[in-house]
Amino acid sequence: MEGVKFDLTGKVAIVTGGGKGIGRAIALGLAESGAAVTVAARSQQEIEAVAEEIIKMGGKSIAVVTDLTINEQLENLVQKTLSTFGRVDILVNNAARSFLRSLLDLREDGWDKVFDTNVKAAWLLSRLVVRKMAEQKSGQIINITTVGAEKAEAGMAAYGCSKAALKMLTRCMAREWAAYGIRVNAVGPTLTRTEFSKPIWSNPEIAKLVTSNIPMGRLAEPEEIVGAVLFLASGAANFITGQSIYVDGGSLTL
Ligand SMILES: NC(=O)c1ccc[n+]([C@@H]2O[C@H](COP(=O)([O-])OP(=O)(O)OC[C@H]3O[C@@H](n4cnc5c(N)ncnc54)[C@H](OP(=O)(O)O)[C@@H]3O)[C@@H](O)[C@H]2O)c1
Repeated sequence: MEGVKFDLTGKVAIVTGGGKGIGRAIALGLAESGAAVTVAARSQQEIEAVAEEIIKMGGKSIAVVTDLTINEQLENLVQKTLSTFGRVDILVNNAARSFLRSLLDLREDGWDKVFDTNVKAAWLLSRLVVRKMAEQKSGQIINITTVGAEKAEAGMAAYGCSKAALKMLTRCMAREWAAYGIRVNAVGPTLTRTEFSKPIWSNPEIAKLVTSNIPMGRLAEPEEIVGAVLFLASGAANFITGQSIYVDGGSLTL
């Protein structure tokens, strides 16, 4: 039965921020499930290394250097994917940035940079990709949010607000694009051991405080975020759209 398949053979995916951390794990996971993957971020060396890793394991991949805040580079990312693989089935809007800064100290341009990357780029890139997905009458978009979209953390206002906006954008896109056969969902991790969160987990006192707010008593590893993405990208999630799945060790139960 079509609806219970997890296999992504023949599918083409774009993963933003795919050079490291959670994005790298997602790119590798999609490739292991059979998808060809375009890996995008600004750091050429990192994305090329991930693409090479995929090719070495027998998969198909390209790396496209992209600054998601520059519109021409978004267009180039989609064009390169289409000219190489001929279609696009899955977009994972994973790239993000953040500053640890109180609302009183946060600069206006800092707020804008966070929103430009975490919300505006996800909207603009999705819109470009959706034109092709609509022709295909199918597509999956997965936005990576965070538990911080649901609960306020001191010093994380711009980031938390941007991810709450991305969660709402997920629902708006799901609503408008269902008519084209496109599903849009979000995956929200709790604190995960990557470079992004290193200032938190590398400080034993802060790490202890943070893990005391995770019922399962530890941080997530990047690979643990992948399953939810694969599920939502696959036929097993055929009738699920506009939803957020939190991969949080129970964080949001507190
Ligand atoms: N780690 C956590 O604790 C945690 C928890 C909850 C949610 N998340 C979410 O998970 C996602 C991945 O986080 P992570 O921890 O894996 O972060 P990471 O290791 O810092 O990776 C972030 C990625 O985003 C890319 N990026 C940032 N700005 C970009 C831009 N303007 N253009 C293109 N690429 C850009 C970076 O690549 P370049 O710098 O090379 O461009 C990098 O590959 C993010 O959406 C984050 O909000 C993370």
